[in-house]
Amino acid sequence: MPALINPSILSADFANLERDLAAIATADFAHVDVMDNHFVPNLTLGLPVVRRIAEVSPVPLDVHLMIEDADRWAPEYAAAGAASVTFHAEAAQAPVRLARELRAGGVRAAVALRPASPVEPFLDLLAEVDMVLVMTVEPGFGGQSFIEGTLPKIRRTRAAIDAAGLDTWVQVDGGVSRDTIARIAEAGANVFVAGSAVYGADDVAGEIAALRALADA
Ligand code: DX5
Ligand code: ZN
Repeated sequence: MPALINPSILSADFANLERDLAAIATADFAHVDVMDNHFVPNLTLGLPVVRRIAEVSPVPLDVHLMIEDADRWAPEYAAAGAASVTFHAEAAQAPVRLARELRAGGVRAAVALRPASPVEPFLDLLAEVDMVLVMTVEPGFGGQSFIEGTLPKIRRTRAAIDAAGLDTWVQVDGGVSRDTIARIAEAGANVFVAGSAVYGADDVAGEIAALRALADA
């Protein structure tokens, strides 16, 4: 399957979201980082903004929830127009029940892991989700450097998916750039979030194409 490139609008201009969404029309999804200032030490946007950007975005929304009480809030983001909703394992009381609820609502369901959280508790549950997000920085901010020590977790996740014959996607988020994407792809990721790399480029569409080509090489 070809690599998917999901630019993170955390690095967009929040006063010009419609313009900056239009700029990523050649991407696969728009990655939307929702932060509550509790699960992470930063605050971004919430349901009313997601509802509006779902209406104007040229590509489907990949919503990454960095919020507490995911069991309560994640279904609201599905109803707000997301195509994919990712909740953190560390913030969900009942991840399997939540993933089933999201899927029943017609969206893709994904579980995210902070860099220090093990994937092993989920390796027997991979059929319950559409994607595993392996965080490759501590969640909360764009522009951080890739944590090399996350690569073995990406490899173990991909190996378990392949061994089970599943088509679960493996997403990475944090520090994805032209310098890191090839080895992340080699480790087994197939969905790449990139914020500062895409929106910091002079040619946004060209950067998306370059990242895709490096991941697929
Ligand atoms: C960080 C967010 C990321 C962030 C990535 O907590 O989840 O999506 O935008 O930014 P870069 O690509 O700049 O590392
Ligand atoms: Zn994110």
